[in-house]
Amino acid sequence: MSNTPLRVLVTGASRGIGEEIAKQLLDAGHNVAITARTSSDLAAIVAGRPNKNLIITADVTDPNSGDEAISQILKAWGGIDVLILNAGDGSAAPIEKTSDADWEHTMAINLTAPFRYLRAAVPAMKAAKFGRVIVVASTAGLEGEANVSAYTAAKHGVVGLVRAAAAELEKYEITVNAICPSYVDTPMTERSLRAAAERTGKDFSEVKAALEAKLPGGRFLTPSEVASAAIKFIDQPKTTGRAEILKGE
Ligand SMILES: NC(=O)c1ccc[n+]([C@@H]2O[C@H](COP(=O)([O-])OP(=O)(O)OC[C@H]3O[C@@H](n4cnc5c(N)ncnc54)[C@H](OP(=O)(O)O)[C@@H]3O)[C@@H](O)[C@H]2O)c1
Repeated sequence: MSNTPLRVLVTGASRGIGEEIAKQLLDAGHNVAITARTSSDLAAIVAGRPNKNLIITADVTDPNSGDEAISQILKAWGGIDVLILNAGDGSAAPIEKTSDADWEHTMAINLTAPFRYLRAAVPAMKAAKFGRVIVVASTAGLEGEANVSAYTAAKHGVVGLVRAAAAELEKYEITVNAICPSYVDTPMTERSLRAAAERTGKDFSEVKAALEAKLPGGRFLTPSEVASAAIKFIDQPKTTGRAEILKGE
């Protein structure tokens, strides 16, 4: 990874994939701003790490949060080099049981928030003629699966955003890429499995084993594997508009 300390923002950095991304970047010597809604969880990520950091407590679905987070970083550090748009969420339901509220929340967190954060960061990146934007999408951004229509539509949308932004920003030396993992061993996956166990009346361990058996390699990805694959884009100036699938084979 780049030896020069970069100024990075990671959204959804308090647990799961975002936590690993933030820790790997801090351990590589970068200056990292981390966001999530729960500030105590964020404080634990930077504890004992000497790098410059910013803790930004924010709900990415708040329409102002992108502008506010980026302006806080610009004020503190004078620029932003890397934007890692990781915060996301999803729940499973058949189409006829997907409420407007579920649909709107899923779009807000997985699609609209990345757009707003990107829009806020672009002027500074264009001025610097440098930027790396990495979105944590999902295999659901490229493939269709039953009972996740809102999440699948939102992740397909964000992959479209990545491709359009890559085409538009390439001439400013700004790359925009997505990592598209299959199931990862994180609290989000645990929540989905618990909900599925409740829905079907099966044991949590039975539901988990059945899902694992269906996955390539018969296992969940680790947050660390996904973080490493996402961060690799930072050192690839010629790669843009890519939606890279990551499965546990
Ligand atoms: N887990 C998987 O199998 C999987 C597979 C493919 C892609 N992904 C994608 O990977 C990304 C991370 O997933 P994960 O599994 O690591 O999720 P996770 O374990 O649920 O962690 C989500 C992180 O985002 C934060 N967050 C949630 N809602 C937020 C909001 N409204 N505003 C700001 N921050 C918020 C959480 O902190 P707070 O709750 O404190 O805000 C937490 O730090 C998501 O985009 C997800 O769609 C996950």
